[in-house]
Amino acid sequence: MEIDGTLALVTGAAGAIGSATARKLAANGARLILADRDEERLVEVAEELGELSDIEVATVVGDVSKEAHHRELLAAADGLGGVDIVVLNAGVYLPGLLWEVPLAQWELQVNVNFWGVLHGLRTTVPGMIDRSRGHVVAISSGAGILATPGLAPYVATKHAVVGMMESLRHELNRVCPDVGASVVCPGNVRSDMAKNSLLVADISDEQLGPVTSSLAKQIRAGVESGTEPAVVAEAIVDAIVANKFWVLPHPELGWVAVDRMERLRSGNEPADLLG
Ligand SMILES: NC(=O)c1ccc[n+]([C@@H]2O[C@H](COP(=O)([O-])OP(=O)(O)OC[C@H]3O[C@@H](n4cnc5c(N)ncnc54)[C@H](O)[C@@H]3O)[C@@H](O)[C@H]2O)c1
Repeated sequence: MEIDGTLALVTGAAGAIGSATARKLAANGARLILADRDEERLVEVAEELGELSDIEVATVVGDVSKEAHHRELLAAADGLGGVDIVVLNAGVYLPGLLWEVPLAQWELQVNVNFWGVLHGLRTTVPGMIDRSRGHVVAISSGAGILATPGLAPYVATKHAVVGMMESLRHELNRVCPDVGASVVCPGNVRSDMAKNSLLVADISDEQLGPVTSSLAKQIRAGVESGTEPAVVAEAIVDAIVANKFWVLPHPELGWVAVDRMERLRSGNEPADLLG
């Protein structure tokens, strides 16, 4: 799908990958609806984009884990002629050992990373099918095709997003091939996600136990030295233009996934990627 003149909706738009994607979409001529739970940072991003171009930018503050928020986003989009591109990007990760992570933190990650995407798909895909036009993008992660220790809830939700998006792609191909779907599986990307996620969960580093703390440091160091978010944004826009399903901004992850599948096929122990 050509981007110029479309209406694009981005969740988690105040964050690193979301704001970079919004910038790239605006640079290609899309009008924008930007959503995030963090009003202050969202307004900053919208103002920056408004100053960069004369592109129309609307903002909606809300929680992606709530279906009502997605209905509000849909109403905003319908008021502007209907959404063409949806980028479901909001996400959180909270490190911890599977049996130690409190249920409330499991639920938070499932609610944001899984339900936040599913609600977005359920509200926007039917209208796209009616108009025979559109593209939905879900931001999963390398953790959606590989599993690391210390991140079981995040890994589980990101695997769920990959599986769900692949099923959706097959269904759209049968029902309405003019509507595209992509799933994005980046490796480490430079962002404040660790800090932002702890804020969302209302917890601090000091509350993490010793093993979790050491794994958390390793994961955070990877994120802080990660690829620039603009690289992911560019891969997302390319995938929308070319209607490409798999988006791997770190192509080397494809080979790690192949190694995983080979271990699965031959019955060998999975590799511990943080070992
Ligand atoms: N940074 C990485 O290394 C990396 C790697 C792979 C995948 N990802 C994925 O990319 C996406 C964006 O991550 P990022 O690195 O830009 O992080 P980020 O923290 O900069 O951005 C995430 C945004 O989501 C928002 N958000 C969180 N919970 C929300 C909720 N309930 N409702 C609405 N908004 C909410 C936050 O306020 C934040 O602005 C996430 O889905 C993440 O899992 C990130």
